[in-house]
Amino acid sequence: MPHSKHPSIRLTGDGSPTLQLPDCEVTYHSLHGALTEARHVFIEQGIASLDLPLNASIQVLEVGFGSGLNAALAMLWAKEHNRTVHYRGLEPYPVPSSLWDDFPWEHWPSEVATCMKRLQGIAVNTTASIFDESTFRWDQISIEEDLKTEGMYDVVFYDAFAPSHQPELWNHDLFRSLRESVRPGGILVTYCAKGGVRRNLMAAGWHVSSLPGPPGKKEMLRAVNHLVDRFNVRVYGLILDAAGDRVLVCNERLKDGSYAQKFPGGGVEFGEGVLEAWWRESQEELGCQPSMKSAQLFHTADPFVRSAFRKEEQVIALYYLFQMQSNQDTTWTEEPASSPGGESEVKVSWKCWRTLDYRTFRFLTDQTAVQKLQLRAGELSL
Ligand SMILES: C[S@@+](CC[C@H](N)C(=O)[O-])C[C@H]1O[C@@H](n2cnc3c(N)ncnc32)[C@H](O)[C@@H]1O
Repeated sequence: MPHSKHPSIRLTGDGSPTLQLPDCEVTYHSLHGALTEARHVFIEQGIASLDLPLNASIQVLEVGFGSGLNAALAMLWAKEHNRTVHYRGLEPYPVPSSLWDDFPWEHWPSEVATCMKRLQGIAVNTTASIFDESTFRWDQISIEEDLKTEGMYDVVFYDAFAPSHQPELWNHDLFRSLRESVRPGGILVTYCAKGGVRRNLMAAGWHVSSLPGPPGKKEMLRAVNHLVDRFNVRVYGLILDAAGDRVLVCNERLKDGSYAQKFPGGGVEFGEGVLEAWWRESQEELGCQPSMKSAQLFHTADPFVRSAFRKEEQVIALYYLFQMQSNQDTTWTEEPASSPGGESEVKVSWKCWRTLDYRTFRFLTDQTAVQKLQLRAGELSL
């Protein structure tokens, strides 16, 4: 990505200038209009679209600070609307300062040019006050190296070069880590509306909408990091056979059509006790309510887990450890099969829990339950 030659300057469709990388057609903004694009994508559909109290400050992360146009427009927006913005731009390959000597500043509205010059004059890794309470800083670091802040940003201006030029900046793992840096309800906006980018954002847990694009582009994307405002309490059973050697696992066809290995159990309904819910689920999935010689609340999955299916829900998963009275009267074997009287979409089988690979479970909560069972085996005198 670093180039030995300087970017060149190009005038765009609305009369404003942009930069073009040497020896290729890649530009910092749209050739249909740099200023119009930046205003539309990052200001109108980005920072100005946030639903925050007027007295709340706004934390912005920009991926690709570049010429500083988006940053300058955001700072001017803050000033005009009496808002406090804390802006952080990431730029591993800063534009050489000598390039600004020949820049056609007169093609910008004067307040944009003045603000851009001011931002470009701020030393790297230094937080500077801009207007009123608003601050600006830029760090010479790539997004891949930076992904460590948690739940902090309200809006991400995702202004990396296009996927055709830098595909590594548009993948699902990166978008997943980036989501961790954005507070629930926060957004990411980008000029890019490619199907693959949209799918990668969705796979990373963002809720994505296509919005009308700036001139020359039909669409742009806005992705929301869903607000979590509901609990989803779930109860599962680690059912050991009478000898304590094997545990019952289910292979279940989920609502999205995929299959998941999980433990028997499911969601607690309103008005239902936790164990009551467990016995109901046992009846539904296993087709019976086996008699147990012991039962204990064994594990509560601790890390924050967002529901894989309903993004606004936080999963609280409780695991009971049961040991069966006897293996008689049960039909389960080591081969997955539907239980008589149980749900047809659920296949049940015994597995030796000592050799169970936690990674074969789809959900993090089940994975942590398996790990705990294996760790605590000695204490449980199994
Ligand atoms: C489309 S330009 C951004 C234009 C800029 N937002 C502006 O207002 O002028 C893309 C920018 O991303 C920067 N970039 C390249 N690789 C990056 C990375 N791994 N992480 C963050 N930024 C990167 C480039 O150096 C370039 O400045």
